[in-house]
Amino acid sequence: MCGIVGYIGPRNAAEVVIKGLKKLEYRGYDSFGIAVSSDQISILKKGGRIQESFFNLNELNSGLVIGHTRWATHGIPNDTNAHPHSDCSNNIALVHNGIIENFLSLREDLLIRGHIFKSDTDTEVIVHLIEEFYNGDLLYAVRDVIPLLQGSFAILVIAKGEKRIIAARYKSPLVLGIGDGEVIAGSDVTPILDYTPDVIFLEDGDLVSIRAEGVVIENSHVIIERLVTCVDWSREDARKGGFDHFMQKEIFEQASVFSQAIRSVDYEALKTILSGVKEITVVGCGTSYHAGMIFRYLTEEFARIPVRVEFASEFKYSPPPLHGLLIALTQSGETADTLAAVEIAKNYECTTLAITNVLGSSITRVAKNTLFMRAGPEVSVAATKSFIAELAVLFCITDCLSEGELRTQSLDSAHKAIEDALLIDIDPAVDLLKNAGTVFFVGRGWYYPVSLEGALKLKEISYIHAESYAAGEMKHGPFALLSEETPVVAICVEGPTYSVMISNIKEVKARRAPVIAIGNKGDTDLCAVADVVVTIPDTPRVIQILTITVILQLLAYRTAVALGRDIDRPRNLAKSVTVE
Ligand code: G6P
Repeated sequence: MCGIVGYIGPRNAAEVVIKGLKKLEYRGYDSFGIAVSSDQISILKKGGRIQESFFNLNELNSGLVIGHTRWATHGIPNDTNAHPHSDCSNNIALVHNGIIENFLSLREDLLIRGHIFKSDTDTEVIVHLIEEFYNGDLLYAVRDVIPLLQGSFAILVIAKGEKRIIAARYKSPLVLGIGDGEVIAGSDVTPILDYTPDVIFLEDGDLVSIRAEGVVIENSHVIIERLVTCVDWSREDARKGGFDHFMQKEIFEQASVFSQAIRSVDYEALKTILSGVKEITVVGCGTSYHAGMIFRYLTEEFARIPVRVEFASEFKYSPPPLHGLLIALTQSGETADTLAAVEIAKNYECTTLAITNVLGSSITRVAKNTLFMRAGPEVSVAATKSFIAELAVLFCITDCLSEGELRTQSLDSAHKAIEDALLIDIDPAVDLLKNAGTVFFVGRGWYYPVSLEGALKLKEISYIHAESYAAGEMKHGPFALLSEETPVVAICVEGPTYSVMISNIKEVKARRAPVIAIGNKGDTDLCAVADVVVTIPDTPRVIQILTITVILQLLAYRTAVALGRDIDRPRNLAKSVTVE
């Protein structure tokens, strides 16, 4: 995890880097720091979230700065463990995203050779090793150190007296923005787009000398050219645009995000990828895993093709026998467990297909095929529009496999349905949830993973303990926890599971738990059993997956706002989890 930014050029580099780090806070935000190159290397760093007021930008007048925002792995979040780290002489400074797995043995050797360590991080070994090899040319020194490192890294390094940044990438993302007389490096494109749309996505093994005039990239000691890609994400996409929080903005973008994702799927290419597929395995984490579960229900019902859904983190250590197609779901394209699962799948006779939101992300390199969901940048840590976009692409896959079954369920009506869902009154439900210590979410069939996602959203951003169960499982244990103080959010809409859900709600009510039901308009039976009923727009059944998702996202959002939580940066979390 962690985000890194570096700038070299005519602007106030500290200002560019700090602004960029703010955009990368989704990757971690427990401490931050910059290294400024002028006559000497000055490091300013601190525990806690990035505070712009910590830096006096007028005094930091340099055109060469590197910076870091951290999500702690080795060493607690505090001032000394914050990056950048420096060598014993404070002449070399480095920021790092990734993990150095062999840092313990490297550190022991460095200590024996007399190096003094200032932090508990794995990262610090890199800068001391560079110090040992440094002989006036930073590129040579970094080149010599890289073969000694095991693990993953994207690093930016500067040295006193050198007007350049040396960058290296291995299994952690690093992107270069190539401007006119300036270069900005970042963990993703968002810090770059304010200055240029032209970027280079570095590949594993790339080592780069970055000067304001341009970059020289080498890989395996050979100088190479990398393609410059023009990124079409607008700068506005990464701004709040009048909303109070990015999460709110991203929830409200979902009608167009869904339509855009559907439109961007190339059906002909998809047909080729899916041709002859008889079974499918899906891997993902968190919200992406939930999207995979919904896909299983849909594909098994409409296309009659068996689908297995695995947590990427579990799959890695006990991969099942694999045939057919492996779909990796990851909005960021950087989740370490999901990347590892695809690597493993390559050893089997199966095709790999990644679905991701991020052009040039690591998953696009390891999977044979990639579909982009084109949701635009998602800034809030809690995934919302990327979930809807993942579902859109997955709906297209089910549609393709079932020869149009889903399209006849009118995917085209989704846009209006999502817009209508955004306007539904949920105030009474929020009032009930905001005082709860524990909330249960229940559903059946494909609404079960929808309820899992609802519970995840609530716990992530409101910190209320929330659990989801397939409604039939509640009586096998969780009932022991029910009381007047444990609201139950029940998805109870028309369809094959309606009657049994009504019975389940009655059982819950008999144990005195208040019920917030999500149901169809005019359902008097439901109104008779539930304390609060939130009604969804009239749509085909499949589209209800989307409208209910939107309502559950809004419930989580509004409850967290009522509790005064930090919506876009919930405690302890990061958006992109690049460690196991
Ligand atoms: C983190 C994020 C979640 C996300 C999960 C998987 O835990 O906080 O919101 O669902 O990673 O991310 P991915 O990028 O692989 O979809």
